[in-house]
Amino acid sequence: MAKKILVTGGTGYIGSHTVVELQQAGYEVVIIDNLSNSNADVLEGITRITGKRPLFDKLDCKDMDALKALFRKHHFDGIIHFAASKAVGESVQKPLLYYRNNLVSLINLLELMPEHNVKGMVFSSSCTVYGEPDSNPIDENAPIKPAASPYGNTKQINEEIIRDFIHSGAPVMSIILRYFNPIGAHPSAEIGELPLGVPQNLVPYITQTGIGIREQLSVFGNDYNTPDGSCIRDFINVVDLAKAHVKAIERMLNNQSDEPVEIFNLGTGTGLSVLELIALFEKVSGKPLNYKIVGRREGDIEQIWANPGKANKVLGWKAEISVEDTMASAWKWQLRLREKGVM
Ligand code: UD1
Repeated sequence: MAKKILVTGGTGYIGSHTVVELQQAGYEVVIIDNLSNSNADVLEGITRITGKRPLFDKLDCKDMDALKALFRKHHFDGIIHFAASKAVGESVQKPLLYYRNNLVSLINLLELMPEHNVKGMVFSSSCTVYGEPDSNPIDENAPIKPAASPYGNTKQINEEIIRDFIHSGAPVMSIILRYFNPIGAHPSAEIGELPLGVPQNLVPYITQTGIGIREQLSVFGNDYNTPDGSCIRDFINVVDLAKAHVKAIERMLNNQSDEPVEIFNLGTGTGLSVLELIALFEKVSGKPLNYKIVGRREGDIEQIWANPGKANKVLGWKAEISVEDTMASAWKWQLRLREKGVM
């Protein structure tokens, strides 16, 4: 019988790409999402790619009664927990919203796992836990730095909650995945990133400027201590990233984990600057991008890229898609949204 995986936040950007990979690997998927930052239309895209419609429940992970009912209805072999608020700036404005959403959701799910015999949880964390690294590339043993925002702090606290719970003897396992900068879309352009309102992240802002929804991209700073002065990130293709989740689930369900809690960096291992990424966009779209250099954005890290060696070796996963192809996929997705009249 197919193993059943609960994907919280499964209609979101990374969640939806992961659902596709899980279904293609033969897993049965149940999605829950409160649709606060995504749209149920995503289910159509997933269905068109995989030929199978995942089960979906509009449910908020803060609602323990609804979660209990869900866990009575299904037996889950594993959980992939994406559901969280993720806008850094908003988290500074509304810290309690971020702490409530991101902490209560995790606590509720963990609490239900032992009594319902759910074996493990894959948790979405972020390279933001490393703060400004002392050196790059950065591996999992690098120190955790004080968080620069409530959002970042929720990721650090979430990691600690998982560790403390498992160290208390709870019979569950977890794999914590620290993402670098996920970008791009499924090559079919059936699913992709769909920010509500003005995008906060770089790539949706680039593609929306490219298509004329936004007038001009502001590049936040060109006076950093980097070769071209703009910030450096490890941009990782979202489909590559999604595949790592399938590897992580397999590892836990097949009892291959060395420790009850394992942490993996998910990145390409290569840093690229904001200006280099813009140049790649111009190359794949065949048009110049309207951008200007403005002042630095508060809280930005100067440069960070991953040492993904542990994930390569232990998880048997490696980023495979080039950043150029990834930017082409992001552009194809933006063009598809225009075609469909979405934006
Ligand atoms: C941030 C968070 C990360 C979080 C992610 C999800 C930090 C340090 N990082 O990533 O933890 O998981 O958001 O939302 O808090 N840029 C521009 N113009 C723009 C937008 C961005 O120049 O309009 C630049 C930024 O200054 C940065 C780079 O592009 O140098 C990437 O920015 P972004 O896409 O927002 O991601 P991070 O800030 O790296």
